[in-house]
Amino acid sequence: MRTPIVAGNWKMNTSLAEGVALAQGIVSELNIARLGKADVVLAPPFTHLYRVAEIMANKPKLHLAGQNCHAAESGAFTGEVAAGMLRSLGASYVILGHSERRQLFGETDAGVAEKVEAALAQNLRPIVCVGEKLEEREADEQEIVVQKQLTQACFGLSEDDFRRVVLAYEPVWAIGTGKTASPEQAQEIHALLRKAVAKRYSDAVAENTSILYGGSVKPSNAEELFDQPDIDGGLIGGASLKVEDFLAIVYALPVARR
Ligand code: 13P
Repeated sequence: MRTPIVAGNWKMNTSLAEGVALAQGIVSELNIARLGKADVVLAPPFTHLYRVAEIMANKPKLHLAGQNCHAAESGAFTGEVAAGMLRSLGASYVILGHSERRQLFGETDAGVAEKVEAALAQNLRPIVCVGEKLEEREADEQEIVVQKQLTQACFGLSEDDFRRVVLAYEPVWAIGTGKTASPEQAQEIHALLRKAVAKRYSDAVAENTSILYGGSVKPSNAEELFDQPDIDGGLIGGASLKVEDFLAIVYALPVARR
């Protein structure tokens, strides 16, 4: 069975002191016994990773993620961070192809595919983001768009490699806007992604692929989203910056509910 996951993407937020306080709050208040088979992932800015790794050390079910990495192993790439560097400080996940990277920093599907391979080569699990823009949703092109992103970013992988990929559906129009996809809208795309995985690999691989929803997830809407059969958790932006909100979203996972 697939792993339910709630991941906090802090984006470019928090000073080091604020980030440390946030991580300490999450680590000290999270009731790990409630998680069951679920995992919690924190993706702080690069500058905070080492400290947050220390705070999370030896905590089962808690994992560290980078928000991006470069495709090369090392070299003259000023300002970039390699997958192996993330691995070396204890990260086990990396977010790749986030829509902000695509829209603001010119990332392409082909570039995301290279990063996915680089991450897997360093034993990092990539959280690969797909999602349509507002104008694409308005033109009813969301299915074509996400299918293309998934195919180009991931379907060159072997089955063994793909098994370690986590997918995230993040409709661009729902990110940071307060507008959430309805549970039905999100479920529709999640089911489509899972079907595409089944077709490319197998039903068994599709069944075991965790597909997260991202885009204005809050404590008030997390349960209805996570209740959908193909939504396996969330990738949380704004609400991951408050301990109480983030934990409420973690506890909205069906496995963690009381
Ligand atoms: P918000 O939760 O702030 O909408 O951000 C979602 C996101 O982009 C997570 O990666």
